Amino acid sequence: MEIAAKSERNLTWHDMDITREVRADRLEQQPKTIWLTGLSGAGKSTIVNELEKRLFVYGKKTMVLDGDNVRMGLNKNLGFSEEDRVENIRRIAEVSKLMNDAGIIVLTSFISPFRKDRRNAKEIIGKDSFVEVYISTPIEECERRDVKGLYKKARAGKISDFSGISSPYEEPESPDIEVDTTGRTIDETVDYIYSELKKYL
Ligand code: ADX
Repeated sequence: MEIAAKSERNLTWHDMDITREVRADRLEQQPKTIWLTGLSGAGKSTIVNELEKRLFVYGKKTMVLDGDNVRMGLNKNLGFSEEDRVENIRRIAEVSKLMNDAGIIVLTSFISPFRKDRRNAKEIIGKDSFVEVYISTPIEECERRDVKGLYKKARAGKISDFSGISSPYEEPESPDIEVDTTGRTIDETVDYIYSELKKYL
């Protein structure tokens, strides 16, 4: 379906009186989107889970958006072609922005393999609200772990467009935070990210 140009769609933005600032004040926090990127098996879901627990304990109002979970709901009509991944990330960015507008701190966990999509997400969310966290666990380690057995399937040609194998993963050039989980415990990893995050929250 072709979407008409903005000027032809007869839409007018309506400013609401309860603003983003008012909502954030009510929740007594700085809403941000903490955007994790990295290969499948790098540790993103485990890390957001532990990181959210830590923020939660300190009284933050949070929400997690995780790749597999969102693909089982909101994005169940999307696959792994380049076009679908672009749409996946665009929707996640828009949802994150809405949640930030509501005052919530959002943690996202998506491979988000393309630089231009992460740049687009940052633009949608707003550069002051977007914190990019690169989980830089190398592919050899992700493949050694192969928690979901997907690398094995991808090597056997049973999954197409698999990130890092038959579809590219473009590393962030200047992430706000970077951590390679190889040889680190989950606590060490989360301690490190949390200490780096403090200056943004
Ligand atoms: S993204 O590239 O669009 O950001 P996303 O993070 O939502 O990907 O989903 C990745 C998850 O989908 C992986 O952790 C894995 O469980 C599953 N998956 C299934 N097929 C693929 C594939 N071809 N490439 C990568 N991940 C896949």
